[in-house]
Amino acid sequence: MKTLSNLNPTKRRAEEPGLSADSLEAEAVARIIEAGWWAPTPDNWQSWRFQWTGECIEIFWDFETGTSFLDVAHGVAYLSIGGAVTNMEIIANAEGYDLRVDLRSETDSNRPTARVFLEPTTKRPSPLAAVIPERCTNRRPYARTRLEPEMIERLRGLEDNCRKAQLSMLYERDEIEDIGEMAGEFDQFFLHIPEIHDVIFRWIRWTQEEVLRTRDGLPLGSLELNFSDRLGLMVLRKWVRAKALARLGMGRWLASRAAKLYASSGAFGVISLPEMSAEAAFEAGRLLEKIWLVASEKRLAFQPIAGPALLVMRNRLKGGAGMDARLRDWATEVERDLRSLCSFEEGTLPVILFRVGEASPPSARALRRPLDMVARDVMK
Ligand SMILES: Cc1cc2nc3c(=O)[nH]c(=O)nc-3n(C[C@H](O)[C@H](O)[C@H](O)COP(=O)(O)O)c2cc1C
Repeated sequence: MKTLSNLNPTKRRAEEPGLSADSLEAEAVARIIEAGWWAPTPDNWQSWRFQWTGECIEIFWDFETGTSFLDVAHGVAYLSIGGAVTNMEIIANAEGYDLRVDLRSETDSNRPTARVFLEPTTKRPSPLAAVIPERCTNRRPYARTRLEPEMIERLRGLEDNCRKAQLSMLYERDEIEDIGEMAGEFDQFFLHIPEIHDVIFRWIRWTQEEVLRTRDGLPLGSLELNFSDRLGLMVLRKWVRAKALARLGMGRWLASRAAKLYASSGAFGVISLPEMSAEAAFEAGRLLEKIWLVASEKRLAFQPIAGPALLVMRNRLKGGAGMDARLRDWATEVERDLRSLCSFEEGTLPVILFRVGEASPPSARALRRPLDMVARDVMK
């Protein structure tokens, strides 16, 4: 099993004779940054860079590569950074630090989006630390069995613990089928709006050579497609062909395929916010990663599903900019359905959906760029 302490080949061991207090601190900082580096980003963009200043860890987000048509107010950057900070906090607590985070809402890629200060405290190890490198996205069909009562209890605990971000869980079979069908409908828009088509196809890594060279994006294997689905995906890669096939009803086929997959889940979750802001999206990202780690600890499969909620946000906060009437109508309907399924109050914004359940491990996992490429000044 991979552990956080054997991943950095250049790291010196704490027991090594002659290691100064400074280098011990540098090792702790390296482990904390490494935990952030493991965090998920949409389509495995990894649009971040971590830097230790001697005073704090700065997280820079590249707002050019780290966004997409679906993103609203760069919420996706803050969601991702929230996930990274959750991982960092788990390791920092184990190393004897509390974290204080200074988040900036300006979107300048040359300035840190978050500054993370380490404040010494007593060591508080967590079993979730071991799960940080294990957590991954699983896009297989899951068993339709209900989650164990113990897991449901853990999730209820997380529902109660949130501040800005709220968690709604759906465990009943009819609710799972309803939300699965609704979320699956999003897949037809890959063939409808060129910007949505681009979001997915830009990040697919088609060959092992491409996976290893870029170490970002989604390896084809991680999409869990059978042979004919793979062929179909290759045909749809060109927008003109996707558009032509949409006219022949291919969109409906994609939607029903996704609905069937999503119905194969043990539970669905929806993370929502009372408002959209950098802080609120950051909190949502923290909550998402916490749930994901708890699920991974219980060896449950997990898949975030961002598209439907992001379109609802775009429709509401950007007046449906870049969306045609059909897409706007669909987003309005999704918002209404989510409000009734999750008993949202008026004005609540869904940010991300996810499904969770029992499944065998994924066929392939997304890689990470080398740690020393994304983290400077401590990984020497
Ligand atoms: C904010 C966010 C949104 C995501 N949305 C989706 C999604 O809609 N569908 C999906 O299959 N995976 C989604 N993912 C999962 C990422 O593609 C995945 O985390 C990334 O490729 C890294 O792989 P890993 O999770 O296996 O480490 C999302 C992840 C994040 C952080």
